[in-house]
Amino acid sequence: MNVSVVGSGYVGTTLAACLADLGHDVTAIDIDEETVDRLNEGETTIHEPGLDPLVSAYAGTSLQATTDHAAAVDTDLTFLAVETPAREDGSIDPTALLAAAEDVGEAIADKDGYHLVVVKSTVLPNVIEEELVPTIEDASGKVAGEDIGIAVNPEFQREGSAVDDFMNPDKIVVGTEDDGQALDRLAELYEPLITDWDVPTVETGRKEAAMIKYANNTFLAAKISLINDLGNVCKEFGVDTYEVADAIGLDDRIGAKFLQSGVGWGGSCFPKDTAALVSAANEEDYSPAMVEAAIEINEVQPQRLLALLDDHADVDGKRVAVMGLAFKPGTDDIRGSRAKPVIEGLQDRGADVVAYDPLAADVMAEEYPDVEYVESAAEALDDAHAAAFVTDWPEFADLDDEFDAMADPVVVDGRRIVSRREGLTYEGLTW
Ligand code: UGA
Repeated sequence: MNVSVVGSGYVGTTLAACLADLGHDVTAIDIDEETVDRLNEGETTIHEPGLDPLVSAYAGTSLQATTDHAAAVDTDLTFLAVETPAREDGSIDPTALLAAAEDVGEAIADKDGYHLVVVKSTVLPNVIEEELVPTIEDASGKVAGEDIGIAVNPEFQREGSAVDDFMNPDKIVVGTEDDGQALDRLAELYEPLITDWDVPTVETGRKEAAMIKYANNTFLAAKISLINDLGNVCKEFGVDTYEVADAIGLDDRIGAKFLQSGVGWGGSCFPKDTAALVSAANEEDYSPAMVEAAIEINEVQPQRLLALLDDHADVDGKRVAVMGLAFKPGTDDIRGSRAKPVIEGLQDRGADVVAYDPLAADVMAEEYPDVEYVESAAEALDDAHAAAFVTDWPEFADLDDEFDAMADPVVVDGRRIVSRREGLTYEGLTW
């Protein structure tokens, strides 16, 4: 098929490259010229395992990039994968998405025949129905469900394994308003995945599809917050939460995944999506108490890590190592990273913060210039009076003699990543 993907950020680039790999001809459209030039040269600015080889393999052949939205007209369907950033109050700002939707609408205004627009961005149901659909209809002069189709097809990929997740999804969710043409086109698009991998497809309404995305992420975030809440209780009783989690995870109704207790969740999705859901519900005069509690517990975890440190060290004027800055291993993304409140808490206590992360130091330095960034875990620990582990980079599990160079071997572990315990004043956050 001929497919256009508007937005060459993290989601859009992964989508475009993976669709090319499925055998489609893909046009990536972005307003940023540098992004477009890089893509055409076969490069990305995104750290995502497996993505660069795909982009370099297909650039110039079945993957082309342009700044011109009019290119959408020559394709069978257009994905909108434009970011929806959060406003101060937690609500999402759909301005860029609506602008892209308008450009696409104008591009397909004179097209003969049906064109399908597919929303990949994470947007609340009311924004889709009240703002996005009318924007596309007005700009194109066409009616959704008749001359054009508008579908919602959320993604469930994780950063760090987005390509794998795309190729091996748990489900494909397609939301339309009983639009047979839209369903047929999306079935053809995903045919290789559906046939080869037997992936279940959920056919539902547009609003439901949008809500499934929010519910999926909120459920996962709340699951982590619940094990963290229970974990805090466990810690008070001297109980190892991981032993408890292993046992309850054997109950099929609970499941073993997403029970790794610790300093909490970050990233570009869980914090943004939970906040957006609360904000949107509040506007309807409903307070989603469980979601609010999940967010609150997530804010508590870094403070509990710092409180554990306070139990063993007065860090005022002392060198303290922050181990890991990315919101999770395998990425340089620091959005929502729990390292931020940990750094702030240490600086408030007067500590000299030294930090190490194999990928995310440069980007963190832009936000937190008053931290000393070093090139290795050993350098960070050297002469430190305490160390706080915030990201579970696998290399941290191998640290051993490096702890001997600490001025005081006080270690607080927010991810249960440190293997060595002997000779350390070691505190696990929930174990
Ligand atoms: C999340 C969802 O998992 C994806 O399904 C979804 O598509 C994506 O958001 C999105 O909306 O785009 P992601 O943010 O990339 O993916 O990362 P996760 O692997 O889900 O981890 C999120 C955070 O939870 C990380 O900070 C991680 O350290 C933390 N986490 C995860 C825990 O603290 N405990 C766990 O057991 C699992």
